[in-house]
Amino acid sequence: SYCMCGTSSRQYALHGHRANCARLFSALRERIRAGGLPKLPVPPLQQTLNMYLKCTSHLITEEQLKKTKAIVEKFGAPGGMGEFLQKKLLERSEHTANWVYDYWLEDMYLSNRLALPVNSSPVMVFPKQNFRSQSDTLRFAAHLISGVLEYKSLIDGRALPVDYARGQLAGTPLCMDQYNKVFTSYRLPGPKTDTLVAQKSTVMPEPEHIIVACKNQFFVLDVVINFRRLNEKDLYTQLERIRKMSDIEEERLPPIGLLTSDDRTQWAEARSMLIKDSTNRDSIDMIERCLCLVCLDEPSGTELTDTNRALLMLHGGGTDKNGGNRWYDKPMQFVIGADGSCGVVCEHSPFEGIVLVQCTEYLLRYMRGSPSKLVRAASMSELPAPRQLHWKCSADIQTFLTSSADKLQRLVKNLDMNVSKFTGYGKEFIKKQKMSPDAYVQVALQFTFYRCHGCLVPTYESASIRRFQEGRVDNIRSSTPEALAFVKAMDVEKMELLWTAIKAQTNYTILAITGMAIDNHLLGLREIAKELKLEKPELFSDTTYATSIHFILSTSQVPTTEEMFCCYGPVVPNGYGACYNPQTDHIIFCVSSFCDSAETSSDLFVKTLEGCLKEMQDLCTKCNTEAKPADSTKRKDGTTKVMKNGSKS
Ligand code: COA
Repeated sequence: SYCMCGTSSRQYALHGHRANCARLFSALRERIRAGGLPKLPVPPLQQTLNMYLKCTSHLITEEQLKKTKAIVEKFGAPGGMGEFLQKKLLERSEHTANWVYDYWLEDMYLSNRLALPVNSSPVMVFPKQNFRSQSDTLRFAAHLISGVLEYKSLIDGRALPVDYARGQLAGTPLCMDQYNKVFTSYRLPGPKTDTLVAQKSTVMPEPEHIIVACKNQFFVLDVVINFRRLNEKDLYTQLERIRKMSDIEEERLPPIGLLTSDDRTQWAEARSMLIKDSTNRDSIDMIERCLCLVCLDEPSGTELTDTNRALLMLHGGGTDKNGGNRWYDKPMQFVIGADGSCGVVCEHSPFEGIVLVQCTEYLLRYMRGSPSKLVRAASMSELPAPRQLHWKCSADIQTFLTSSADKLQRLVKNLDMNVSKFTGYGKEFIKKQKMSPDAYVQVALQFTFYRCHGCLVPTYESASIRRFQEGRVDNIRSSTPEALAFVKAMDVEKMELLWTAIKAQTNYTILAITGMAIDNHLLGLREIAKELKLEKPELFSDTTYATSIHFILSTSQVPTTEEMFCCYGPVVPNGYGACYNPQTDHIIFCVSSFCDSAETSSDLFVKTLEGCLKEMQDLCTKCNTEAKPADSTKRKDGTTKVMKNGSKS
């Protein structure tokens, strides 16, 4: 092991050398001063291979480990395949801004065939709004769209302040590329892989428009007419016209948006059939080139708890609610429900949740800071009326629609979601223990999984690599051997092991955010071999590799300063999606899983998590104050492994 600064020390990981490495810091700053952000480094091959074994060895059988060790050794041997591929990756990094970007985008999103809702698109859930009337809803929408236009002009004018890293290794500037894609991208479905299309400004830019979805119908709302940006009053008038048009039942067309909720290959097939007709082609073209969607949803008829609002954002509540009132390929869909259930649905491939948070927090602040300028009555307007998009639906398209609707219903029924606010304590308590709050929550999630399932599993935690040019994320493999030692030892209470687990997690975080984690590197080695048409190295056909990328626990910190939260679905059928939002005195957890998995239960996970967080607090408090022994009855309950059906073993 060695640090990026060149310091060779087998112990650096344990003592947090990298976290405090002044030489590494100043080297990074120097490179930034020298012009722009540094390029993402290619980690040393042996470091990645050693780390791969360290991350997987405690998650597989002894026999499998023996086999994997031999494969890794052969791959990494001097003059072997690993060295050859590493050389090619280094060459690639010379002539690309970011050697992993294309591989990562393809692997993480574009080649994934699963339906976007639940499986891929995260959502932001706004605080429940109190709309007293339909006009209130439209006023909110007009105000929000005004904010979107303001924000878009900040992006276009390159006037957004540069983001700087916070938390670990705070202070370095971050790549702002992702912001340019928020309102200009489109995920085009393809038969084998999708394409992330980026709109380029043309010599004569066309008027910009938003698509408003209302009662499963799509309307074009031009926001620039005769070179003038519509003000809030105009927007309100146009929205009211849209609302009236959507009320005309005879004009209602089939809910074509449902097709975008299907799996990607199916949608690609339906789309190519759809665009054979020129009316459909024109309609699709308008949607693909819009800034964003505003979905005016019908009342959901459900109690608007945090969990139910999260579900409504994730899948619209199915075909009998607002499931068809969406177009999932577009990165930003602002949902405004007549019952006050509001938020954003985000197609994930162009940017990360942190960018989504920045954008939506700007909008919420904008709406609070600049009160609506609307008078109660709608204005008479000379503006041309918004247009409804038309569709010609052949029998084949009807068949596709029926099948998409069925699949969406299954997805809706299958999602097991639990949003809960842990109020025992928040970041403040953890910081007082001199621990990283993020590492602490991650160790708590490991502890919880162990309590629920009696083992640890490959875990994904997204780590931002925006310190580098075109940086997106890498993975912090949170199920460290140190975490396993700690969760096992909780039976006998070991503060030292909690410290070691927190340190291991923090060190992995530093590794990931400085571009030295293993997942992107292994992906690069795998993909460059494919690109060079070489036989797949055994390292990547080995069971251990398949196991290691089957992320049963998929986690992400998405902190907010406004009152809202982010959530998403699990990434594998037997897994959990766990998104958390640490605040000073509480932590919001959004845990999802699938009902048809016999192994998982979101409610049980959250209940156990609350117990684990309390136990960890007790441990910290007890060790800090050297107080009385822990409450044994409480611990006994918690340490019992509970199965999904409620039985204990
Ligand atoms: N003692 C006391 N305080 C500590 C501490 C310690 N040992 N370690 C950290 N802290 C403080 C930090 O200084 C920071 O303070 P602040 O609240 O004043 O900023 C705070 O605790 C939070 O730090 P930490 O919990 O360590 O986390 P982080 O903010 O560095 O986040 C990641 C870690 C991995 C989540 C972050 O680097 C990252 O990559 N975020 C992006 C995740 C992402 O992409 N999400 C969206 C996916 S779609």
